[in-house]
Amino acid sequence: MAKIPRRRFLKQTAVTSIALAAGSWRGRAGFAQRMESTATRVVVDPSRQISTLDRRLFGSFLEQLGRAIYTGIYEPGSPRADSSGFRTDVTDEIRSMGVPIVRWPGGNFVSGYHWLDGVGPKRDRPRVLDRAWNTLETNQFGTNEFLTWCKLANTEPLMGMNFGTGSAEMAAALVEYCNVDKGTRWSDLRRQHGYEAPHNVKYWCLGNEMDGPWQIGHMVAAEYGRKAADAARQMRVIDPSLKLIACGSSGPFMTTYLDWDRQVLEECYNEVDAISLHRYFGNSEETGGDTTRYLAMNLAMDRQIEEIIDVCDLVRGLKRAQKRLWLSFDEWNVWYRARGPIADNGHRQEAPHLLEEPYNLEDALLVGGLINSLLRHSDRVRLACLAQLVNVIAPLMTNENGVLRNTIYYPYAWALQSARGNVLSLVPEGPAYEVGRLGRPLGAGGTTMPGLGRVPYLDVTATSDPEGKTAALFVLNRDLEKPRELVIDWQGATPTKVTSAQVLTGTDLKAVNTFDTPKRVVPQSLEPPKAGAHMTFQLPARSYTAITLAT
Ligand code: AHR
Repeated sequence: MAKIPRRRFLKQTAVTSIALAAGSWRGRAGFAQRMESTATRVVVDPSRQISTLDRRLFGSFLEQLGRAIYTGIYEPGSPRADSSGFRTDVTDEIRSMGVPIVRWPGGNFVSGYHWLDGVGPKRDRPRVLDRAWNTLETNQFGTNEFLTWCKLANTEPLMGMNFGTGSAEMAAALVEYCNVDKGTRWSDLRRQHGYEAPHNVKYWCLGNEMDGPWQIGHMVAAEYGRKAADAARQMRVIDPSLKLIACGSSGPFMTTYLDWDRQVLEECYNEVDAISLHRYFGNSEETGGDTTRYLAMNLAMDRQIEEIIDVCDLVRGLKRAQKRLWLSFDEWNVWYRARGPIADNGHRQEAPHLLEEPYNLEDALLVGGLINSLLRHSDRVRLACLAQLVNVIAPLMTNENGVLRNTIYYPYAWALQSARGNVLSLVPEGPAYEVGRLGRPLGAGGTTMPGLGRVPYLDVTATSDPEGKTAALFVLNRDLEKPRELVIDWQGATPTKVTSAQVLTGTDLKAVNTFDTPKRVVPQSLEPPKAGAHMTFQLPARSYTAITLAT
């Protein structure tokens, strides 16, 4: 791992100081004042908590799409596959990342998927045309393969249900197939298929993006809400312990945004535990290709979460309900290059190259910011999925020889590794810049998005684990020109040692990793200050940093 030498950092700072001095030459006192105000200050107090972190906040997603499954995690015949066809190199990587939960099989795919096609003897499974992505689906990988793979990867399943062409009855049948021990039609079928023990799948998505006209079986809100309530009631008879996620709006670009969520919840609030959110970002029309705007886009995620919370609580009030719903942000990522009519069309091929987004440095920085946004809403967002995990808009890519870490792998892997215990409530104070009205987001028919207002240069989150006596800090520096200072006053627990300080940064915001050049964007170690009650960190321009400390 390369190191950012203190010398280079000081040089960057010196240039900044000269520029500042030149811009405001008001004598020593004025200069000192100006330097002072460029730092961001924050008190970190482990007793001020947002939540006890549910690790499901860092889940991911594998859709039966493109090369996510076929040649991604499953490739029978590959020298890298085990006897069941699972790629051991990919599974090992995912296991060692510690991905807590994985959503499957879709996504848009699920809305035309007949789960019965994917169970039983492989030779009898039909080859079908998937109408979501115009792809040939061999059904060689189905429910039992996914649930077996989850065990190998040491992750929990989050199963999606077909609410497009599928009925509430068949959704309930799938729960029975997966979770009932024996003695019923569907549980006995599972046993006949060679799986004696029930899979006990707890988390289920009641459909996918059913508000979207692109979705197979797209419905109006009340119709979907009623179907969700009906299916949920049937499913809970089979297994009352299930956690059920209603399908929320596909995003703020929808004309039905928020109203869809309200109407759906008015129908099914009492039957479900959570509602889903989805969002993809891009440095394109919405941001005008301006990276300072792009790196602020995680604040749009904050806003989306807060708006959906408001709708949930409005319906809660109207219904005088006791329970409060939680949020499942079960699709989020950067995705804007590999999309559109060409990238989305599988041309009736098996495992076509679809949605293979080439992630660069600035995408990774935004992904870091998005992780910060999820952390600071972790009291209500209990589950979230980076969409997706392998090959399709993913941190990991495969070829026949191995696995590549895309740039966005790093912030995601740091969150998985280091965010532990409690998420802390922070009120950083520091310089900010203005982001006014945004352009049209992808997928929108003409609507532009509201501005983001004052955007802090530093976006800071922290976790603290009283058991392990550790703390972690995650900092996005949105300043493209200058390093920025973060001054931390610790209260309640004083760090005794900085155990690691890693930063993702570089001069080329468009740099990507490829199989030929896999190390263009990799973490560097950051020289940390001495541990203590008062610490000043120097964060390079254009960077995302993860710091762990012993407390
Ligand atoms: O993740 C790719 C696609 O994006 C999913 O299939 C769909 O749910 C969303 O629109």
